[in-house]
This record gives sequence, structure tokens and C-alpha cells, in this order.
Amino acid sequence: MMGGYGDIKLLNDDGTRLDGRAVDEMRSVEIKAGVLPVADGSAWVKHGLNVAVAAVYGPMEAHPRKIQRQDRAVIDVRYNMAPFSTSDRIRPGFNRRSREISKVTAEALESVVLVERYPRSKIRVEIEILAAEAGTRCVGITAASVALADAGIPMRDMIVGVASGKIEGVVVLDLDKAEDNYGQADLPMGILPNTGEMAFLQMDGDLSIEEYNLACEYNYKAASEIHELMKQALLDSASRGDA
Ligand code: CDP
Repeated sequence: MMGGYGDIKLLNDDGTRLDGRAVDEMRSVEIKAGVLPVADGSAWVKHGLNVAVAAVYGPMEAHPRKIQRQDRAVIDVRYNMAPFSTSDRIRPGFNRRSREISKVTAEALESVVLVERYPRSKIRVEIEILAAEAGTRCVGITAASVALADAGIPMRDMIVGVASGKIEGVVVLDLDKAEDNYGQADLPMGILPNTGEMAFLQMDGDLSIEEYNLACEYNYKAASEIHELMKQALLDSASRGDA
């Protein structure tokens, strides 16, 4: 939802952002693993004012049969924004946007999970956005990755979801709600922190090559910070013994 009309001030005179952050500063992030006793794996992620919970079930036999793949598992993702997650009026239930986010998330996760180890199986990933403040697709991916690891599902890396963008012609890390609504560009990415690969990339608005490179650099910096929190959450959950 890029407004980009230039009539809304998003930067203070001293170059900081309206919430006081520096241009290359992400919102604060908190992560917990193993939060849902009934799921095989789960995670809770608070990223700024976003709150996401992810639950993983499986691997289990894929039903109906027609969704089975003979050589690998399928990952069935359902991203959903709770009706109380936003002050905007959202129509509850599955819509175009949530279907699109579910699909790109599933494709990203299939690139890191060792799906070939579980032929004819399904791994179900539920992502519930409890509070939304921009960047929920990224927070959902981060939460899903921790939940998959918490379920003990083998992966070649986790994925960290993070976005940078452009406001008033300036590249900034991790857009908040106003910046997402009235900014000029948004660049959400799914980054594999160990290999440095990118598992997904979307772009809304326009960035020059230089701006894209800077946004990328910011995203990689944030991804490595968030990755530390993901690993710590998994260690804490394992030491509690409820993973
Ligand atoms: O959440 P994300 O940035 O990944 O996706 P978006 O489609 O760019 O949405 C940006 C923000 O708009 C969300 O995080 C929500 O805060 C808000 N939104 C909403 O309130 N209701 C919707 N139906 C869609 C988005």
C-alpha cells in the first residue's frame, strides 16, 4: 500500500524517524519457541507491534491423496490475520492477500526444509497474526521457521523475514505502519542467515539499484540480529524441556 504522495512527513528534522528510530534501526524483536503444547512445534514472535504465532503439525500422511508428492513432503501454509489484529476493517477469513502470502511463505519454506526426506507427507504450518503493524508476512516467516525447528523438522537453514523500504526518498530499515502506508517502497525478503541465500523477495514501489543495494544491506544486517534471537529462543525452549 504505497501512498507516496510526499505530503506526509515521515522523517524528523534531525533525520530520525517519527518513532525516534535511526534509518538503519529495526523495531525491537522478541521470540519464544515451544509456546503451544498441542502443536508439534510452535513459536511466538513480537516484532515492533506485530505479534505472530506459528504452529507446525507433522510430518503426517498427506490427505487428500491428490496433494501427495511421491518424492517429497508438501508444506501446507495458512497465514491468517485475526479480525482483532488491526484497526482497519478486515473481512475475516481467507482472502486474496492471505492466499498470496500463504503461497509465497510455503514456497520459501519448501526451499529450506529437507522435504525429500518425507515422501507423500504433509507438514502443516499455521501462521496467525494476532497484532499487525506492517511487515506481517516477514514476521510470519520468522515465526514459521522457529516453529519448524522447534518441531525437529530437518532444515538446511532457517529463514528470517525482514523488510526495508523508502520514505521521503530515504532508504530505511523495517517499515512501521505509517511508513508502510505512506512510504515510497517496501522490500520484504526471506534471508537464510547461514548461507546468505534469499528464499523470497517481493517489491512494492520503486527503488534505484543503489537504493535496492542499501535496502538489501539493511535487511541482511537485521536478519543476523534476528537470527541470534531465533537460536536463543530454541535453546531456551530445549532447556525447559517442553520443545
Ligand atoms: O503485513 P505486510 O506488510 O506483510 O503486508 P501488507 O499487505 O503490505 O500490509 C501492511 C499492513 O497493512 C499490515 O501489516 C496491516 O497492519 C495492514 N493491513 C490491514 O490492516 N488489513 C488488511 N486487510 C491488510 C493489511
